[in-house]
Amino acid sequence: MRGLLLTLSLFNPFTFLPLTAQVYLDETQPLEQRVEDALRRMTLDEKIAIIHAQSKFSAPGVKRLGIPDMWTDDGPHGVRPDVLWDEWEQAGQTNDSCVAFPALTCLAATWNPQMARIYGESLGEEALYRGKAMILGPGVNINRTPLNGRNFEYMGEDPWLASRMVVPYVQGLQSKGVAACVKHYALNNDEEYRHQVNVIVSDRALREIYLPAFEAAVKEGGAWAIMGAYNLYKNQHNCHNEILLNRILKQEWGFDGVVVSDWGGAHNTDEAVRNGLDLEFGTWTDGLTMGATNAYDNYYLALPYKKAIQEGRYTTKELDEKVRRVLRLHFRTTMNRQRPYGFLCSEAHYDAARKIAGEGIVLLKNEQHVLPIQQNAKVLVVGENAIKMMTVGGGSSSLKVQHEVLPLDGLQSAPNSQFTIDYARGYVGDTVQSYNGVTVGRSIAESRTPAELRAEAVEKAKQADVVIVFGGLNKSDFQDCEGHDRRQYELPYEQNELVEALAKVNKNIVFVNISGNAVAMPWIDKVPAVVQGWFLGSEAGNALADVLTGRVNPSGKLPFTWFRQLSDVGAHSLNTYPGTWREGHDVIDEEYKEDIFVGYRWADLSAKRKKEMLTAHRSPLTAHRSTPLFPFGYGLSYTTFDVTVNGHEGGADVSVTVTVKNTGKVAGAETVQLYVGPDKPDNSRPVKELKAFQKVWLEPGESKTITLTASRQSLSVWDEAAGQWTFIPGTYRAYIGTSSNTNSSFKLNLL
Ligand code: BGC
Repeated sequence: MRGLLLTLSLFNPFTFLPLTAQVYLDETQPLEQRVEDALRRMTLDEKIAIIHAQSKFSAPGVKRLGIPDMWTDDGPHGVRPDVLWDEWEQAGQTNDSCVAFPALTCLAATWNPQMARIYGESLGEEALYRGKAMILGPGVNINRTPLNGRNFEYMGEDPWLASRMVVPYVQGLQSKGVAACVKHYALNNDEEYRHQVNVIVSDRALREIYLPAFEAAVKEGGAWAIMGAYNLYKNQHNCHNEILLNRILKQEWGFDGVVVSDWGGAHNTDEAVRNGLDLEFGTWTDGLTMGATNAYDNYYLALPYKKAIQEGRYTTKELDEKVRRVLRLHFRTTMNRQRPYGFLCSEAHYDAARKIAGEGIVLLKNEQHVLPIQQNAKVLVVGENAIKMMTVGGGSSSLKVQHEVLPLDGLQSAPNSQFTIDYARGYVGDTVQSYNGVTVGRSIAESRTPAELRAEAVEKAKQADVVIVFGGLNKSDFQDCEGHDRRQYELPYEQNELVEALAKVNKNIVFVNISGNAVAMPWIDKVPAVVQGWFLGSEAGNALADVLTGRVNPSGKLPFTWFRQLSDVGAHSLNTYPGTWREGHDVIDEEYKEDIFVGYRWADLSAKRKKEMLTAHRSPLTAHRSTPLFPFGYGLSYTTFDVTVNGHEGGADVSVTVTVKNTGKVAGAETVQLYVGPDKPDNSRPVKELKAFQKVWLEPGESKTITLTASRQSLSVWDEAAGQWTFIPGTYRAYIGTSSNTNSSFKLNLL
């Protein structure tokens, strides 16, 4: 009898498979069988436990079954330092000083998917060393307004570019057995009131502009996790949003991974149960500051959910589905015995960081060959951003680095340089050098007044051959920082006055803009050279010095349109930002009235069409067509290129053959871009949209022929009535250029 009972208890009553065969631990077995095997061994308590956090950055495994805890961490530019179990305070570890990779705007500016692959792989190795199974990144929210405090963590304004760059990042990271958690899904396009914004957007703009990068990350990249955004869409929070999560992500795209809530993004049990949330993190915290101690049992998917199941309000259908997804994540990460070993701060990681940074820096203006810096020149470096660490600050992406090379130090130690360097502070921005418990050892305190600092810089500039101003934004609140948006498009800290004053006494001014966003440059005609220097991570100073001295020939291209003024941006021109508060001040409705016309798609619109849109939306502004200061896809080189279109083929897909020749004296790279639009723009579609690009490296005098192909699917539009993608046959126009500002175009008949 005893023997019989024992035998019976070893059999699962539903499947009659022997529980002794530990299929879930056997890596030779198919993933889904392992998932089902583990699932049926788990008790209700164990299932409930693994779908919510147990600490700020971990969720429990099932110790009884040998399923380890799941540790995660930000993301997306390096592995965030450890905080205490249930506090935001630093844990004070000595093994969590990492390599900071360039911010994702810089990665996007490389226009080189190989860089994204290396980025993902390197970050994956750092994550492995740190015991993190999932990295909270990359971010692919579209740059809709340059005020968004978090644009630096994203990949620009164009869905095609962001898609091409996110896929290899995800694949590179996951090739190391570390999950990507692509964020923030979706429509989290500004930070101000991020918990209260309800986005109103057409289905078409949602599908054509805001979702493609997420879709690519899931369908092509095979992302194992995705993070719901804080904001609302159709009046429902996006961490438990029926349309975005259940219908689009899971049903339509076939996502089999885990939906993770943003920290504090879950708001009620019923929606969390039904609307696609799988793993709840950070409830009652905002991810950065606020926190309630030991709230974990009270999470929406913890005891309240268990009680509801026990009371019969839910079956375990939804629970099992969530558990399956979390188990899949475990088998792909924590329980993947094939994972390689991790490395922290390896030479290869620093090399990758420097290379990505060097390829992403964008040369925006370079008259009279002011750059690269001439040998023997007397160089004056000016500005706080030459001596300020930028890896500390900015919100959850803040890091604790082993080292960060500052721009001034990078220039001073540039190999083979024979120029002399002097420094003047020029302006004071934010001298706080610590964030969330990570403190920079070097003080940049300054007691002189702005006028005194300017005067010193001007005096020194009179003696210099070239003046390199490192200015721009920083990672402080209301700059490029999570939690808020910028309050102005203008440069802060009286930098405009500084540049104007310097330009009066020295004609060789180089402005290096350190930021993740465009800024107004009212003095643009008075300075001969401008460089977009992003937030470049650990190797910032070296990478900037590489480009400024010519050791690296710049090849970065803007991943967004650089508008002259805020009122030139669609969202601002239509007065849609930050939205309209509802009565009670709980929800702010933000209607994306510019629809699909984001970035260059807006800039390309005719004045007539803009006027119609402004009138229709009763915008107080007047319509004008203003050319951007620098177009999307734009960036110069120290060499020159000829781009010739050899031929093209229509039919189903569009293929264009192009020859690129380096006509200058140094080796360099050019990115050839293919845009497609209707032959006769009728305003129902953008004039043109990026559909393919390729970066080509060439020695002086060398030519290469490449073929750019735009697939029929990529040329389809979202048909709102039918709820599907449709290709419209007809006469199109293809544009080939080295930025979105191109007149080289030809007609195409597409069947
Ligand atoms: C951010 C997320 C981040 C999380 C955890 C939140 O505030 O929005 O991007 O991953 O905190 O730090």
